[in-house]
Amino acid sequence: MTTSHQPKPTTTDSGSPVASDEHSLTIGPDGPLLLNDHYLIEQMANFNRERIPERQPHAKGGGAFARFETTEDVSQYTKAAFLQPGVESRGVIRFSTVAGERGSPDTWRDPRGFSLKLWTTEGNWDMVGNNTPVFFVRDPMKFQHFIRSQKRRVANNLRDHDMQWDFWTLSPESAHQVTWLMGDRGIPKTWRQMNGYSSHTYSWINEAGEMVWVKYHFKSDQGVECLTQDEADTLAGSDPDYHQADLYNEIEAGNHPSWTLYVQVMPFADAKTYRYNPFDLTKVWPHSDYPLIKVGKLTLDRNVEDYHAEMEQAAFEPNNLVPGTGLSPDKMLLARGFSYADAHRARLGVNYKQIPVNAPRSEVNNYQKDGAMRITNTRDPIYAPNSYGGPAADPKRVSEALWYADGEMVRSAYSLRESDDDWGQAGIMVREVFDDAARERFVGNVAGHLLDGVTEPVLQRAFEYWRNVDKNIGDRIEQAVRHGG
Ligand code: HEM
Repeated sequence: MTTSHQPKPTTTDSGSPVASDEHSLTIGPDGPLLLNDHYLIEQMANFNRERIPERQPHAKGGGAFARFETTEDVSQYTKAAFLQPGVESRGVIRFSTVAGERGSPDTWRDPRGFSLKLWTTEGNWDMVGNNTPVFFVRDPMKFQHFIRSQKRRVANNLRDHDMQWDFWTLSPESAHQVTWLMGDRGIPKTWRQMNGYSSHTYSWINEAGEMVWVKYHFKSDQGVECLTQDEADTLAGSDPDYHQADLYNEIEAGNHPSWTLYVQVMPFADAKTYRYNPFDLTKVWPHSDYPLIKVGKLTLDRNVEDYHAEMEQAAFEPNNLVPGTGLSPDKMLLARGFSYADAHRARLGVNYKQIPVNAPRSEVNNYQKDGAMRITNTRDPIYAPNSYGGPAADPKRVSEALWYADGEMVRSAYSLRESDDDWGQAGIMVREVFDDAARERFVGNVAGHLLDGVTEPVLQRAFEYWRNVDKNIGDRIEQAVRHGG
């Protein structure tokens, strides 16, 4: 904050100068207040309305403004204007924890959100990802239950490990993500030192109309660093806004963190025959099958000036796509295409896309009108088709990714492929990605979590869950819980 020697005169919200910032209007110095002290009433009324609902999941977070530059030529895969070589776009990013409330500690063990919005010349493009390449569930019907199991119980308003493990152990598809969560990467050292993943499979479409499937990987140029459980617990008490402060202070000091964007590209036809269902969000595509292809660089170069206006009111949504980018038949992703905009309408109001941080920098032409807090003027005609020169859609500019679907209507799990199971990729992570020291910390993290309030029958089921991932690791976890090591 800077000190100004010549402060500007205080005014009411309607711009009229006020006589005092200290004294209310009364009858005599000791007398009662007057209802016509509009300035006092405005103060109290505005104060009472300062809070808006926090995000349902991902309530605690922070971020900055960003610059994205496409440094490589990926035009054979996508026609998106912002993904053409040399193109630079501005945007905004937000990092978050999932389960905690707005004031909760940054260093709780949890996946971290990695939400990016780029204001491209063809409209907003958002990627609302996490710092993990997979997720806990693969059907959107289970998402709400999953989040509730991570939050607070009804009666005592406490978070509850028994509830968390009850859900996880009854949902074996969670094993891969829970392995990530309980491993070292479950608590990043800073937001700057973690990767960001789309997790989902998306689509890209090139100028010729050919489609490929893609997964986005933003790799931290700062390297990946993590906190141990003990370090995180200490920080949760001594410095609960540790991640927020780190990012803000680093950017303020001119140290602009960056990420290199890579994609994995799967030819359209491979999706039919690949040994994993490529749209199952609980699985990764091994890099040996689909190697990383470099795309560009994301740099965070400016802090927000007003956290509420530019971060709390930022509205990210996976359905913000531009021509050349699209969704995929991932059931979770398709449901998210509805859920986020709905959350924003509920939290921020129907015209949330007119809030400056959410407003596209490209032209908006359509027939929406009115609604609470609409601030741009609508013009006649307000219907289509019309004879009066209103905007007209161009059928040649197909922005959706289109694919073929056919079959009976069913409520069913994805059909299984040759390598599809719930435990395999989690087991590979424990055996091949972790080293001995990481496995030791993993056993300690899981056992510590289970010892904190998990009871039968959930506890026994948790041992079986880990034995399904890896017999040895399951035995070690049971040993650590039952006999203290
Ligand atoms: C936030 C729904 C799965 C990442 C949210 C919010 C909702 C939501 C309603 C709050 C939005 C707001 O108020 O601004 C869902 C549903 C899902 C799902 C219905 C599955 C069907 C996922 C997955 C990921 C993810 C798989 C990551 C790959 C995020 C992030 C945020 C968020 C990063 C915070 C956005 C921000 O920074 O403002 N989700 N979610 N979600 N979700 Fe999801």
